[in-house]
Amino acid sequence: MPLHCLRSIAIGVPNVDAVRAFYRDFGLDEVAPGRFASADGGEQLLIESAPLRSLLALCVGVDDADDLARAAASLAHLGVEAERSSRALRASEPISGVRVELAIGPRAAQKPAPPLETNGPGRSVRVDARSRAVQGRAAGRPRRLGHVVLGSNDAPAARRFFVEGLGFGVSDEVPAFGAAFLRCSSDHHNLLVQPSPVPFLHHTAWEMDDVDAVGHAAAAMVAADPSRHVWGLGRHGIGSNYFWYLRDPAGTFAEYMSDLDVIADEEAWKVAASGGAHPLAAWGPPVPREFLAPDDVAALARG
Ligand SMILES: [Fe+2]
Repeated sequence: MPLHCLRSIAIGVPNVDAVRAFYRDFGLDEVAPGRFASADGGEQLLIESAPLRSLLALCVGVDDADDLARAAASLAHLGVEAERSSRALRASEPISGVRVELAIGPRAAQKPAPPLETNGPGRSVRVDARSRAVQGRAAGRPRRLGHVVLGSNDAPAARRFFVEGLGFGVSDEVPAFGAAFLRCSSDHHNLLVQPSPVPFLHHTAWEMDDVDAVGHAAAAMVAADPSRHVWGLGRHGIGSNYFWYLRDPAGTFAEYMSDLDVIADEEAWKVAASGGAHPLAAWGPPVPREFLAPDDVAALARG
């Protein structure tokens, strides 16, 4: 796939200072006011002032100028205007107005997380030693931005823009929700577009070392402010990742996740239409109502 990473996002919120404080607690490094870096991905989150919580922009890494030319031709075929420079291509998603930039850049290599030694029936890997997961392990930092989930009042149009226009791959679909899991890297998904009465940013997801890192970080956030808890710990039925969702002060959900499916061979991966398991969770607490229908989005829809 010529697209190789979800490099960064810009989000708009009405309460910038409170949201900045949340993402500092979340483990991102505020390198300048409103500009946040993950441990491996560099600056990946920009927080700006806006009347409503929303995704303003996202940037996707590509390999070379040929990738830009292919996307420019595909967007033109869809009738979408794009602005081209030697290193980037910029266009806006026609319905929500989200600004998307394809930017030429190197493929990132992450330093592998140290494997957590786990014992199981007939398999004793950690012997004569307590688990590292219970020995005063501090909440780790998010390693990188994983994905964003958008609500769109024209999800099919948004899907055409990202898939046919920009070259995102389709990994799985949930026809019952009209949702598609899309990727711009080997991650199972970097973007999900789901139908919504109004455009909004449902959540961002951040990769942690492992499930214990998800648990440590989320538990620390909830201990500091129990109202942050939304849903977790669980394991998604699509993408396979562990998840724990929190709520930022603007109402957008922020997910710690680990162990997402990786798609390296596009021929080997078979796109499924939700499959037999519950698509949202293979296991976990019941899905909160607000996760499916956030209160502020319902209020926006009512005008
Ligand atoms: Fe997610």
